[in-house]
Amino acid sequence: MKVLYATSEAYPVAMSGGLADVAGALPKALRKRLVGCRVVLPLYEEVSDEIRANMRFIKSITVPVSWRRQYCGIFEAKIGSVIYYLLDNQYYFKRKGLYGHYDDAERFAFFSRAVLEMLPHISFKPDIIHCNDWQTAMVPVYLDTIYRKDAAYKDIKTVFTIHNIQYQGKYGNEIIGDVLGLPENTAHLVEYDGCVNLMKGAIECCNKLTTVSPTYSEEIKDPWFAHGLENIIKEREFKLSGIVNGIDTEVYNPAIDDIIYQNYSSEDISGKAINKAKLQEETGLPVRADVPVIGIVSRLVSHKGFDLVKYVFGEMLSKDVQFVILGSGEWEFETFFHNMAKANNDKVYMKLGFVPSFARKIYAGADIFLMPSKSEPCGLAQMIALRYGTIPIVRETGGLKDTVTDSGDNEGNGFTFKSYNAHDMARAVERAVEGYRDKEGWNVLVKRAMECDNSWGKSANNYIKLYKEILDK
Ligand code: GLC
Repeated sequence: MKVLYATSEAYPVAMSGGLADVAGALPKALRKRLVGCRVVLPLYEEVSDEIRANMRFIKSITVPVSWRRQYCGIFEAKIGSVIYYLLDNQYYFKRKGLYGHYDDAERFAFFSRAVLEMLPHISFKPDIIHCNDWQTAMVPVYLDTIYRKDAAYKDIKTVFTIHNIQYQGKYGNEIIGDVLGLPENTAHLVEYDGCVNLMKGAIECCNKLTTVSPTYSEEIKDPWFAHGLENIIKEREFKLSGIVNGIDTEVYNPAIDDIIYQNYSSEDISGKAINKAKLQEETGLPVRADVPVIGIVSRLVSHKGFDLVKYVFGEMLSKDVQFVILGSGEWEFETFFHNMAKANNDKVYMKLGFVPSFARKIYAGADIFLMPSKSEPCGLAQMIALRYGTIPIVRETGGLKDTVTDSGDNEGNGFTFKSYNAHDMARAVERAVEGYRDKEGWNVLVKRAMECDNSWGKSANNYIKLYKEILDK
């Protein structure tokens, strides 16, 4: 079985969010299980010199973009155990930032079409192309509308994974001809609610549709979560399933992690206390073993639940707790936490930005990890926190619900709340803080959290099952 994983970002080549983590780890895990898997993504400006030095030029071709033809250089690089194809076109990709340009529809229509156009020129014939989010949504659409009749493409199947249904690739209808270059009688595939919706096109054309957790695959049938796509999701429910993401347990391993202050494992968690003391020291908080440290590592945006945190922050601070916050995002939350840290520097520390090494120190040094998302397709931070024995408090939504269970019955690995309600969250925080006071019970919980299996193994096996299902048909 051969799978080509088409993505707009993958760690360590180019990253802006969780998709990069998944695209960096799943292909590796598939290869370990003897599935031939290669990755294709754009050759962005930000691809490092180190990776460029490893690239081998294969060929240059031209790719149709509507009535035009554009240059595309095909490069190949082996990164770790995985072969990557990097597709070059400087006009489209020699820019700052991966997305957010006025012509993103054209950039990723080009890329999606280039993925198909490169196939006759590489030594890898995929049985399945696995596409991700709106940037690669045109692959299944082009395959069905333009390439199917060619014998080389006839049997290729597609999987489309939704990592976040909020970002759909919505544009005006005028791009159908001149940018997407779709035959007129197929335009309906990408039309939805009076405009072009690339994600909807993929939902129509893919053989299997997945999301990154089972709960989210149910939630997106509901208008509250679906951002307008609920009807088409319900219509195509028969091909929809949810497979929870994993984390790279080799990268995230407190026993060998050389970024954290002191290594530890579930057999001997004593090193965690040292991480905590060092974190308190580094952040200028009182170095006290008896006060629970609550960590937050997140984009500071409203769908991550920060309006709840903001609403009851004062109340939470009235307890004997410390907060260490790392993130950036909306001005409202950045300034709120910044001001809170300034006014309460014995209880709150805030660092603005995306700093992976400091994030790792929070995962290791905090006692509790707060992640009260309004919606969360999967979420990776709660799994990393578990791996480092930092007990997550989450809202029961999406992947948070599938990976964290309430420890109220002495079996779970964290603390959860259901409604999107600030006081329900505050109550969960209170319960966690109470739990923390019982040292013995807490240590049992920490061990249990660290022993949860969120590695890619199980999930990779589920993807393999899904691929087999399509190919056996
Ligand atoms: C998106 C989702 C996040 C998920 C990630 C990887 O960033 O918002 O919940 O973990 O994709 O699938």
